Amino acid sequence: MSGLELTSVKKSFGDIDVIHGVDLSIDDGEFVVFVGPSGCGKSTLLRLVAGLEETTSGTLQIGSRDVTHVDPSERGVAMVFQSYALYPHMSVAENMGFGLKMNGVAKQEVDDRVGKAAEILHLGPLLERKPKQLSGGQRQRVAIGRSIVRQPQVFLFDEPLSNLDAELRVQMRLEIAKLHKDLSATMIYVTHDQVEAMTLADKIVVLRAGRIEQVGSPIHLYDDPDNIFVAGFIGSPRMNFMNAIVQDASPTSLTVAIPDYSQTPAKFAVSGANLKSGDELVLGIRPEHFRPDGDVKITTNIDVIENLGGTSYAYSRSDEAEPLTIDLKEDRSINEGQALTIGFNATSAFLFDKQSEKRLR
Ligand SMILES: Nc1ncnc2c1ncn2[C@@H]1O[C@H](COP(=O)(O)OP(=O)(O)OP(=O)(O)O)[C@@H](O)[C@H]1O
Ligand SMILES: [Mg+2]
Repeated sequence: MSGLELTSVKKSFGDIDVIHGVDLSIDDGEFVVFVGPSGCGKSTLLRLVAGLEETTSGTLQIGSRDVTHVDPSERGVAMVFQSYALYPHMSVAENMGFGLKMNGVAKQEVDDRVGKAAEILHLGPLLERKPKQLSGGQRQRVAIGRSIVRQPQVFLFDEPLSNLDAELRVQMRLEIAKLHKDLSATMIYVTHDQVEAMTLADKIVVLRAGRIEQVGSPIHLYDDPDNIFVAGFIGSPRMNFMNAIVQDASPTSLTVAIPDYSQTPAKFAVSGANLKSGDELVLGIRPEHFRPDGDVKITTNIDVIENLGGTSYAYSRSDEAEPLTIDLKEDRSINEGQALTIGFNATSAFLFDKQSEKRLR
């Protein structure tokens, strides 16, 4: 198995620049998840690693080898796509072994590797079936099996579970986590799913318009986002953002007013150096960090409540630019159309510069 090193990787399609110079280190055996909005370059970056696209500039190293100009089949990577395109006329075993057979691997070796992959993926009893006799999750496992038999140094997954229903996704997510543990392989995984990203990743890479915004463990990104984009992207439901106005600034603290929601100023243990009274900031607070006994009190009208059983989300000002989502936990005493006064602690909120969108620390 191997780590990866991407250095100043750029990719343009014609005169459209898609990847703007990505530097990224991935450790041997690490599970890395790429997240970001549609079109930000996740698949392109994965395809560059696979060699399905050629880099415009920069270098790509797998293990100690520079593979920037190496043929895809020689890179030691295997990719699993969202659409798994199995050969309908071949059995499960034949589908898994086909690539090896085409590469001239001896039959006994093919059978051994298919057998081992089937064992890992619990496909043993299904080896003689045709794809149409399998469930969606079983087909996806065959597609993963096809990559396992190649014994790659690096597995690349491009939204492999997005065609599956919710229950199956959960099951396959656990199986992929187990697969990673069993094989101790380096894996790069693209997903839109917050829970997949948070639960599977050793390291999340947040991408935006072809650039890396922040890299870190799921909890690091959740607790310590560098900017509004990452703060809003990691965590579900999304972080709330409110306008805040500096009232008092010192090198060790900042007092801000939250004119749209609160009568009382909030004090933060954040450096107010370079700021002055009247400067505009953005205050971020996660839905789950509201609590009745929070220091900073806000009041808002609740438009809609979604009861999910164990938790309830209240939505306020849902038709405005700055709506709020509040996690009410198990409190069912609040009704739609009512005013709600609730609080949060300044220590669980974040402040951002309004212009640069960077976090104030
Ligand atoms: N072959 C191509 N020619 C021109 N532009 C391309 C090509 N492939 C991708 N792009 C553009 O590159 C950008 C990044 O695409 P990419 O498929 O990597 O996005 P993504 O992050 O995977 O999005 P999604 O979440 O929708 O899958 C998009 O703007 C896309 O239109
Ligand atoms: Mg994609």
